[in-house]
This record gives sequence, C-alpha cells and structure tokens, in this order.
Amino acid sequence: MRLLVTGAAGFIGSAFTRMVAREHPGWQVLAYDKLSYAGNLKGIGPLVDSGAISFIKGDIADSAAVASVFDSFHPDAVVNFAAESHVDRSIDDSMAFMHSNVLGVSIMLDVLRRTCPSCRFLQVSTDEVYGDLPLDEGEPFTEEAPLHPSSPYSASKAAADLITLSHARTYGTDVVVSRCTNNYGPGQHPEKLIPKTVMNALSDRPVPLYGDGLNVRDWIHVDDHCRALLAILQHGLTGEVYNVSADCPLSNRDLVYRIIASLGCEPSLVQPVRDRPGHDRRYAIDSSKLRSGLKWEPQVPFDIGLADTLRWYRDNPDYWPQEAR
Ligand SMILES: NC(=O)c1ccc[n+]([C@@H]2O[C@H](COP(=O)([O-])OP(=O)(O)OC[C@H]3O[C@@H](n4cnc5c(N)ncnc54)[C@H](O)[C@@H]3O)[C@@H](O)[C@H]2O)c1
Repeated sequence: MRLLVTGAAGFIGSAFTRMVAREHPGWQVLAYDKLSYAGNLKGIGPLVDSGAISFIKGDIADSAAVASVFDSFHPDAVVNFAAESHVDRSIDDSMAFMHSNVLGVSIMLDVLRRTCPSCRFLQVSTDEVYGDLPLDEGEPFTEEAPLHPSSPYSASKAAADLITLSHARTYGTDVVVSRCTNNYGPGQHPEKLIPKTVMNALSDRPVPLYGDGLNVRDWIHVDDHCRALLAILQHGLTGEVYNVSADCPLSNRDLVYRIIASLGCEPSLVQPVRDRPGHDRRYAIDSSKLRSGLKWEPQVPFDIGLADTLRWYRDNPDYWPQEAR
C-alpha cells in the first residue's frame, strides 16, 4: 500500500499516521501538510527522522504541488485530514476555510482522477455537517439525513463531502467519506475545548465556558477514530458515507467541571463568556452502519481516555510553542 496522508501534522492526522506506522510497517506512507498554525511536526517527527515515513511540506490547494506529489508517489490511497478546523476562526474569517476545505479537496480530486484514477480517496469529515438537534428531542442523524451545517466551518466541510461524492458518480472515482464526532486525545491544538481547559486551569487562568454551557458534544478518543478510519479505508464501500461515534454525549459544562475536578483545580476558575454565534446545541449521530458493516467498536472508555489525555497535557507543557497557548 502506498498511502498519502494529507494534513498529517495535525491532531488527528498525526495520530493516524503513527497508528499506520505501528500497525502496517510495510506500507509506504507519504505525509503532506502545509504546516499552518495548527500543524505541528512533533507528532510525526520521529517517524520522519527514522525514515519510517516521508514528509513533504505543501498546500492541498496548490495544484502544481499536488500534481507533483501524485506523479512521483503514485498513491494507492489518500486519506485527507487537511482542513481549517476551528469553528470560531471560521466565524471571524471564512476565506481560509474555503481555500483548504473546499478548493483544496476539489484540486486533489481533480489531480487524482487525471494521474491515479484507481486511487481510493477517504475524505475525513465531521458530524457537524448535519447541523444540530434540540437538547431533549430528535433521533441521532443517520448517513441519509440531509446536510444542514450552521457555521462557515461545517458548511465548508459539507461542500467538500458533496464534491467528494460527486466524483464517485461523475468520474467513477473510488471515494469514501467518514463523519466523526468530537475527538479528544494528546496533541490537540490549545485553541480547542479540552486542551484549553487543561492549560488554563493548570496555569491558574480563567477557563471560558460558552453561554449556559449546556451544549452537548459527543466525544471519541482520537485512536478510536483512527481505527474507524483504517476500517473504512480498507473495507468501506465505494461512494458510501460512514458515521463514527462512540456514543459519549456530554454537556460542555459537565466536561469542563469534570476536568477541573480531576486536575484538583478551583471550580471558580470557570468563567461564562458570551455564546458563540449560531452555536450548535447538540450533536448526535447513529454509527450503526460502521459498527454492523465494518465490525468497528470503540475501545477506549471515556474515563480512561480522558485521564490519560489530562496526564499527557500535564506532562507535555512544551508540545505547542508559547504563542499557541
Ligand atoms: N477534531 C475533531 O474533533 C474532528 C472531528 C471530526 C472531523 N474532523 C476533521 O478531521 C480533520 C483533522 O482535524 P484536526 O482536528 O486534526 O485538525 P487540525 O487543525 O489539528 O489539523 C489540520 C492539519 O491540516 C493542515 N492543513 C490545513 N490546511 C491545509 C492545506 N491547505 N494544505 C495542507 N495542509 C493543510 C494543518 O497544517 C494541520 O496540520 C479535519 O478535516 C476536520 O474537519 C475533526
């Protein structure tokens, strides 16, 4: 297998690349990432240094650079993690999201069909494309649910999903799409809820909590997501979408106070702040297609995964440069 991993220096991309290197040492892996503010080579650096994988710095929306990678590497499969991923940033300025999440995906698919037409393309997407549900009613979204994104981020991801699926219909490209819930684990950028809560609490700074804090997110350990992606990459049916969820819903308030208590910090550090515009109330998806079709089950219980994650942030205060924290 010759595998191209785009966005491999990000939180999930680097966890996935490490898992592939561990579990499939015979695969040839090329990691490609533009190293935006959210990219951190520390996550895959040891693999690059040891020669276990190769790395090229580049933008998925740079068609010449992408064509050169496809021409020289000839991947059998691409897993695309490359994206702008922070909802708040998309609300401030959405252009970078359209560039990477929409244009970048279109460019990769166009290059792929011209240079490696039998290559499989796995687009890593999000449950946010379905939009939200009220707190106390509504069934979890299946893969058949209409897309109803709320933020420029989720709208750009929905566009990418539809572009990806259109290539299966129009060109017969071998595509699959995964839609996962909120990931947690080591190495996530400090702007995201869990690392921000931990880092602020450990340095005795206020911990912001949006609005009433009742918004519900469904949490999954990044390694469970990566195991699902490996199953979808190897066994997913072409042209299909797979929801990925560990069925672990928690309100932001419960999660933040739980982290503060686990760290032995003062609950008074939590400071309600003005709610995010258009803030999705609750996410819930049905992952039975993945569980029954591809025999995937989550393996990391939330209590254990969260405790490990908190320990990791405590033990690795310098993972991100000071300006990112
Ligand atoms: N984090 C989550 O909870 C979650 C949940 C479901 C789906 N996803 C999706 O998974 C993917 C990875 O998320 P993440 O949390 O690891 O994000 P991240 O922000 O940590 O990493 C994104 C990576 O993509 C790179 N990148 C951005 N634009 C690029 C471009 N134009 N060309 C090349 N590289 C580029 C960045 O440098 C970074 O290394 C995203 O597509 C996201 O939408 C994330």
